[in-house]
Amino acid sequence: MDKSAQRRFSEGLLQYLNDSPTAFHAVENAVKLLRDNGFKELAEKEQWSLEQGGRYFVVKNMSCIIAFTVGGGRLEEEGFRIIGAHTDSPCLKIKPGTCTVTPEGYVKANVEIYGGAILSTWFDRPLAVAGRVIVKEDGILKEKLIRIDKPVFILPNLCIHFHREVNDNCSYNKQTEMLPLMTMKEEGMAKEDYLLDLIDKETGIHKEDIWEFELFLYEYQKGIFTGSKEEFISASRIDDLAMVYAGLTALSEAKDSGKPFKVFAAFDNEEVGSASAQGAHSGFLMHILNRICKNLGFTDEAYFRAVANSLAISADTAHAVHPNYSDKHDPENRPVLGGGPVIKYSASQRYSTTALTAACFMEACAKAGVPCQKFVNRNDLAGGSTIGPAISSLTTIPTVDIGIPMLAMHSVREFGAGIDNVYTQQAFRAFYEGEV
Ligand code: CO
Repeated sequence: MDKSAQRRFSEGLLQYLNDSPTAFHAVENAVKLLRDNGFKELAEKEQWSLEQGGRYFVVKNMSCIIAFTVGGGRLEEEGFRIIGAHTDSPCLKIKPGTCTVTPEGYVKANVEIYGGAILSTWFDRPLAVAGRVIVKEDGILKEKLIRIDKPVFILPNLCIHFHREVNDNCSYNKQTEMLPLMTMKEEGMAKEDYLLDLIDKETGIHKEDIWEFELFLYEYQKGIFTGSKEEFISASRIDDLAMVYAGLTALSEAKDSGKPFKVFAAFDNEEVGSASAQGAHSGFLMHILNRICKNLGFTDEAYFRAVANSLAISADTAHAVHPNYSDKHDPENRPVLGGGPVIKYSASQRYSTTALTAACFMEACAKAGVPCQKFVNRNDLAGGSTIGPAISSLTTIPTVDIGIPMLAMHSVREFGAGIDNVYTQQAFRAFYEGEV
């Protein structure tokens, strides 16, 4: 891939990040990308009739998507080539009741914290709101995506004069200190109307029709390229929409070798433990794999053989060595920005990588001609986890945990290098094309 193609890929990624403020939007944009590449939607509730060479996707809860291609080879021997990622990111989620009004007349959004956000990064940044609302139309409850892309909310810092220790230690009370300001009180206005009126005015959905909602605040400022060569990306939700984008585009572009069945899964709720119908700790992926086999007339025996011959990549972002905190990494395993995708290891199985699955991914990188790196936590730091252990334990499919190296993970604005996304997407393509 030449330099201009690399840049185009990074621009596409940035657009995807900016267009996807919530998991719902990430899936909506994934659907557009898949449709543009000949994928057809299947409904979980309907009868399927899959065809050889077909390209399909299934959406669950508007926030989780599994796309797949039907290969022409012997499924029981070729198995599935699976890449998984997640659509959700840490953020502020609006609680029922929407707003709270102080005795001084400040109207604040009543929010809870979704996932392990770096709270300090949410201060002094204009925030917008997006998500889905449930409306009743013609007697039927319907889900509607909304996005009010305006700087409606802000969480102002407490001035340093009232809080001299602010630079020593950032600690925030999640109940009392994290409620963003929306407006000033108006006489005669009910608390819950401030947000509903805004939705009514900005989206055209009548507030009387709104039965329920799931709304999230996001950073209003868009992601941008930074660095003296514009080699970096500073944007919200790099974890893990960068890997969703790499997986989706790899699946769409991969040449069909006619051999393995290719599967891409983007789950919701990873940041809160994956235990939901639309999360990786559900039966959803297994149901889809099983259903593909049954629908094509394969026996149970063939299904179990196919599973045993499959391989999965859990694609979630990884920690690059931080220029100002380089002692946080293991002294011998030190991934950097621009060094290519990172294979993640954990003896305690917080990452699912085994020696064999790591070698398979290294082979994919070698076939694609891209570098790769390795990460393992210091023994005195717990680190994070991914969907990898859920996928591998539920499906029994050997799995490797990998991801682009990045900084500022779980900040409202994260940081990575464009080239790592290009490298990762190329490795994914090689993986899908059945060369490993
Ligand atoms: Co993640």
